[in-house]
Amino acid sequence: MQGIAVEIRGIVKHFGKRVVLDGVTLEIKSGDVITLLAKNASGKSTLIRIIAGLIKRDSGEILINGRKPVYPYIFKVLSVLIDPPSFYPHLKVIENLEYFSHIHGCEKLPTEKLGLAEHLEKRVKEASHGTIKKLGLAITLWRNTDIYVLDEPFSHLDPKSQNVVKDRINELRSKGKAIFFTTHQQNALDICDKVAILEDGKTKFIGTPQSKDIIDFFHGVFD
Ligand SMILES: Nc1ncnc2c1ncn2[C@@H]1O[C@H](COP(=O)(O)OP(=O)(O)OP(=O)(O)O)[C@@H](O)[C@H]1O
Ligand SMILES: [Mg+2]
Repeated sequence: MQGIAVEIRGIVKHFGKRVVLDGVTLEIKSGDVITLLAKNASGKSTLIRIIAGLIKRDSGEILINGRKPVYPYIFKVLSVLIDPPSFYPHLKVIENLEYFSHIHGCEKLPTEKLGLAEHLEKRVKEASHGTIKKLGLAITLWRNTDIYVLDEPFSHLDPKSQNVVKDRINELRSKGKAIFFTTHQQNALDICDKVAILEDGKTKFIGTPQSKDIIDFFHGVFD
């Protein structure tokens, strides 16, 4: 039986008077790839940051492998990609890559495959959005953790690089990892076991990428 890697229970978050998340509940099992779809400004990035412990929720609970998400435990078991990824702007791409991959104990990074090799000598402040996204993906996805939480992993990537990321996500799934990501891209649904839809601060539908609710919602929102 698949264990529950991330339990999101009734998460509520306000910014001022605005309720952004209004009781979000979702389970992410080990070996599952789940994506979260929603319109802009619906709270996807807010939820990712709450799961990763980067911002506080107002109420509700997050459990990671059945435990409260406290440091340093969460740092060891959960890799997170925020959007946009944040690096030292005055350092070169290679310097950021070496620094963060050392801290996280990353595997050999796919700089060639990801098309990062020719941009290693640029300073991050001069690098393109796609290069910075690849830097973030390399460090996040080539770490060895149980859970991967990714905010917009496919945005700014060319189709070849998207396929490299999809292959890596499939490889992690085959190793029993739990992967949760946000996207606006329909082709990203190909690699998902389940899709959750966030609307009015709640998860409204959870189904397979082929289920009618998901297809209808996707077309209604994104067409
Ligand atoms: N720190 C903050 N202070 C005030 N409001 C915030 C803050 N962070 C996010 N918000 C607001 O919360 C809402 C949800 O933002 P969030 O970034 O989570 O949306 P999103 O679904 O990720 O959007 P997108 O698809 O554009 O990435 C937005 O209205 C945003 O302006
Ligand atoms: Mg966002």
